[in-house]
Amino acid sequence: MTDERITVTLRVNGERRSAEVEPRLLLSDLIRHELGLTGTHVGCEHGVCGCCTILLDGVTARSCLMLAAQADGAEIRTVEGLAGDRLHPLQQAFHETHALQCGFCTPGFLLTVSVFLEEERRADFTDEEIREALSGNLCRCTGYQGMVEAVRLAARRMYGTA
Ligand code: FES
Ligand code: FES
Repeated sequence: MTDERITVTLRVNGERRSAEVEPRLLLSDLIRHELGLTGTHVGCEHGVCGCCTILLDGVTARSCLMLAAQADGAEIRTVEGLAGDRLHPLQQAFHETHALQCGFCTPGFLLTVSVFLEEERRADFTDEEIREALSGNLCRCTGYQGMVEAVRLAARRMYGTA
């Protein structure tokens, strides 16, 4: 066994970050333990639950399924980078519609849906469309109805005409 370490440099939430890591380190562990961004949660650790979802160069990615080394040079966004001066409309809507209980799954849902809304740029979703957008992530607490309402509310505020 060697104690080889590699340098990984990436932009995280607009900031250049660098860390020396073992080549086998997972991206989720880099984000949480080396960069201290613990809003990215780790549940199943094998790509099923979506709790570890981040944006990698603007696309959703499961950080538990990637090595940190694979993200070298990439632009990453975590839930900590979602809000600006104010909460992101999705965060505000989740809050208002009680779309979370323990909150463990919430960062993954927020990032997943943020990309969905940015791509769709509209507000006239059916429940089925919203549920489809949510379907890649798992929540053990909420029953999902609050999340469906939150997505609709955020979409109206972001892209609605009324
Ligand atoms: Fe990555 Fe569950 S922790 S998908
Ligand atoms: Fe608890 Fe989703 S709010 S797992």
